[in-house]
Amino acid sequence: MLKPEIEDGQTSLADPQFRADVLAGLTRRPRAIPARWFYDHRGSQLFEAITDLPEYYPTRTETQLLREIGPELRELVGEGRAMVEFGSGSSTKTPILLDSIMPSAYVPIDISGDFLRESSRTLAERFPDLLILPFEADFTRPLTLPRTIEKAPKLGFFPGSTIGNLIPLAAIDLLRAMRASLEEGAMLVIGMDRIKDAQVLVPAYDDAQGVTAAFNLNLLERINRELDGTIPVDAFAHKAIWNDDRARIEMHLAATRDTAFEVDGRPFEIAAGETIHTENSHKYGPRDARILLRAGGWTPIREWTDADGKFAVILAEAQAERPAP
Ligand code: AVI
Repeated sequence: MLKPEIEDGQTSLADPQFRADVLAGLTRRPRAIPARWFYDHRGSQLFEAITDLPEYYPTRTETQLLREIGPELRELVGEGRAMVEFGSGSSTKTPILLDSIMPSAYVPIDISGDFLRESSRTLAERFPDLLILPFEADFTRPLTLPRTIEKAPKLGFFPGSTIGNLIPLAAIDLLRAMRASLEEGAMLVIGMDRIKDAQVLVPAYDDAQGVTAAFNLNLLERINRELDGTIPVDAFAHKAIWNDDRARIEMHLAATRDTAFEVDGRPFEIAAGETIHTENSHKYGPRDARILLRAGGWTPIREWTDADGKFAVILAEAQAERPAP
């Protein structure tokens, strides 16, 4: 998650940026609301449930891959690096990498301080000898990392194919920001979901139990809770489509009937069939992934996939820029 918002929507004041994004997103055409707003408390719980679904292969495939490549990764990465995770490190993938790399320090970066402190406490219990330096910040911009790790070579960790939730232009900006934060000589372990048959991709985002539908529709419930919304949630249906031209799964909320409602005192009308675009999940073929990384200032060193080639974990390095011929 790029910017999880873990808070109790019943009691907290709405985030002004949430209000601005929702009002602008419902006004523009096509209508679209940034996916970062999925992750209130309920949304984060639903995302956790998604990662266990039989149709949602990315989490279990990447976790298994990280287990398998541990020894090789340790050899390639070497000793004494400070590991910097872009995201809070609450997943089961973090301990797997910590176990295999045995870094000199671990710096989880996240915009949500509460989430960060909670996951750091849990990790400290499991790795009592590891120096853990939680860093509350927006990692989409270049950062000055804690001085304690100033001299150590860095290893960035960005799992989950979260890079896929950004359009390519923003993904490149993020990779460049990571390079600037970690500096030349750093390495990066990144997870990227591969392009595959739409018959596998679509069910991963439209599961039989309806958990992903609930995750998508929770955005409307969050708007109603936090922004005084009157959206009739039952007038919307979850829609997941494969956009082959852009190599991405798109999630939308489609109006099943003409509907009118208010958000924050402002009136909106949506006609039957119209959609609110809520998420993109870009998938990358092997060459696409390498080009994306290079465009972001990272040289691919080694990549690993599962036997079916569903998901890739790539090790890349921030090498000195060479002038073009
Ligand atoms: C967080 N992110 C990588 C997930 C994905 O697969 O794009 C979010 C998600 N949305 C629906 N299911 C999972």
